[in-house]
Amino acid sequence: MHQERAILVSVLIFLIFRFCTCIDTITLTRPLKDGDILVSNGETFALGFFNPANSSNRYVGIWYNKVSEHTVVWVANRDRPITNSSGIQSIDETGNLVLHEKDQSFVFWSTNVSRVVNDVFSAQLLNSGNLVLFQGLVNKEVYSWQSFDHPSNTLLPGMKFGLDRKTGLNKVVTSWKSSGDPGVGDYSYKMEFVGPTQLFLYKGMTRIWRMGSWTGHGWSGVPAMTQNFIFNVTYINNNDEVAVVYLIRNSSILSRLTVNESGTVERLTWHGPDQRWIGFWSAPKEQCDAYNHCGPFGFCDPNKSGTFECDCLPGYEPQSPQDWYLRDGSKGCKRKVGTQMCEVGDGFVELVRAKVPDTSTARVNMSLGLEACKEMCLRNCTCLGYASADISKGAAEGGCITWYGNMIDARTFPDGGQSFYIRVDATELGT
Ligand SMILES: *[C@@H]1O[C@H](CO)[C@@H](O)[C@H](O)[C@H]1NC(C)=O
Ligand SMILES: *[C@@H]1O[C@H](CO)[C@@H](O)[C@H](O)[C@H]1NC(C)=O
Ligand SMILES: *[C@@H]1O[C@H](CO)[C@@H](O)[C@H](O)[C@H]1NC(C)=O
Ligand SMILES: *[C@@H]1O[C@H](CO)[C@@H](O)[C@H](O)[C@H]1NC(C)=O
Ligand SMILES: *[C@@H]1O[C@H](CO)[C@@H](O)[C@H](O)[C@H]1NC(C)=O
Ligand SMILES: *[C@@H]1O[C@H](CO)[C@@H](O)[C@H](O)[C@H]1NC(C)=O
Ligand SMILES: *[C@@H]1O[C@H](CO)[C@@H](O)[C@H](O)[C@H]1NC(C)=O
Ligand SMILES: *[C@@H]1O[C@H](CO)[C@@H](O)[C@H](O)[C@H]1NC(C)=O
Ligand SMILES: *[C@@H]1O[C@H](CO)[C@@H](O)[C@H](O)[C@H]1NC(C)=O
Repeated sequence: MHQERAILVSVLIFLIFRFCTCIDTITLTRPLKDGDILVSNGETFALGFFNPANSSNRYVGIWYNKVSEHTVVWVANRDRPITNSSGIQSIDETGNLVLHEKDQSFVFWSTNVSRVVNDVFSAQLLNSGNLVLFQGLVNKEVYSWQSFDHPSNTLLPGMKFGLDRKTGLNKVVTSWKSSGDPGVGDYSYKMEFVGPTQLFLYKGMTRIWRMGSWTGHGWSGVPAMTQNFIFNVTYINNNDEVAVVYLIRNSSILSRLTVNESGTVERLTWHGPDQRWIGFWSAPKEQCDAYNHCGPFGFCDPNKSGTFECDCLPGYEPQSPQDWYLRDGSKGCKRKVGTQMCEVGDGFVELVRAKVPDTSTARVNMSLGLEACKEMCLRNCTCLGYASADISKGAAEGGCITWYGNMIDARTFPDGGQSFYIRVDATELGT
């Protein structure tokens, strides 16, 4: 009899450890106390209280459940740590997920969305790493809040990054203050919508790197991205939203994009055998990545190693030859003396393997091919250059970008990039 019971117990223990009986949900009656951990169904992510390296402050965060190097991908109370282990995350009577201390009313963090009183709410950690606050228990299609809409320093696969045109919410990824402080740091990464959509990295209020506009394959500032095959990338631009979504083709590969504390955007993948994160790409990396490094109408050429990396676009010359001589390109270039703009005989000079200039002063027309684009640009004296808007589609179908103001932050790449055509006069064309 005893023996049978012992067998039964060990079978039960086996079953418990064999299959995840993980709890992935916070409900009104089941809050999350410091020390409790939610594990997503699928066991990829965990949510709970943690303290960063060399800090005793407590934060609620989401991390990879099975990655040996504790890697936090989202933090709730970034700038309001709890100083002891009395924290509780629970659903309050207004249907919000809130973080407070036991028996205390001060709110450290709140989803701050719902004002509905008479409904049932639950918060579930999905296996994508998304913490979702659902309204009602039956229809889990309706959510009132999700952590994917409020990224910390990390973008995960499946997260839409960009602007929700209906709510006006533009997602921003911000670095931690330091490895010991997940508070909102100096560096931020976001989409901007002056002219065609572009992605920028900021330090404070200053742009430090332009990832550029969508070229059909990827972003104009990261030509290497076109060759990778572990993702499929979808760019969405419609009346509801403009966003980019990365999916990993093989779901057993863990990959994340982070803006780290030293101001680098890095994509990392987890390498199981070595138990470490491996860099897939990162930026900014070199002088030519620095935003506006060579000023208006200049461009940066990393292949000019040994000499000054800045150059003027065809038809332009340094604004200040003295600065240029001292290798300061910031004033940029001006139209060459003696050239006549908008006379008969204007044409274009091609810059190959280029990152096209900042499109803040540009316009896009997706119904024009490259040839029609050239004609349109030639007809309008204020048009200074053009390029294909979507290089994945070929010249006829790829749309048209035209520039009308200062052309800044252009560069060339050793590989990849696209052709960019700069307006010049007949004399320049002859040379
Ligand atoms: C934590 O502090 C120790 C000792 O000061 C230091 O060696 C270590 O690099 C720190 N770790 C982090 C992640 O900052
Ligand atoms: C935790 O700290 C708060 C003040 O920040 C205090 O009111 C509370 O009593 C402390 N709880 C414990 C268990 O020490
Ligand atoms: C909730 O949102 C309101 C309005 O946006 C804001 O004034 C308030 O500070 C927020 N509360 C918390 C706890 O974030
Ligand atoms: C991207 O990959 C995912 C996972 O393999 C797949 O479900 C999805 O349909 C793919 N999307 C595109 C646009 O290829
Ligand atoms: C997915 O990745 C895992 C681990 O890297 C590998 O063992 C597996 O063969 C891959 N599956 C496919 C379909 O490529
Ligand atoms: C940020 O990323 C770059 C490039 O991967 C790396 O060299 C640097 O050490 C990282 N900084 C931190 C604080 O992790
Ligand atoms: C795009 O070009 C076509 C053909 O010239 C023109 O009919 C259309 O109005 C243009 N669209 C925009 C948004 O300028
Ligand atoms: C030239 O282009 C600019 C900017 O798109 C526009 O404002 C202007 O009307 C155009 N001029 C002509 C003659 O089409
Ligand atoms: C770099 O410059 C050299 C000499 O000007 C040229 O031969 C070579 O093709 C260039 N390489 C690239 C990748 O642009």
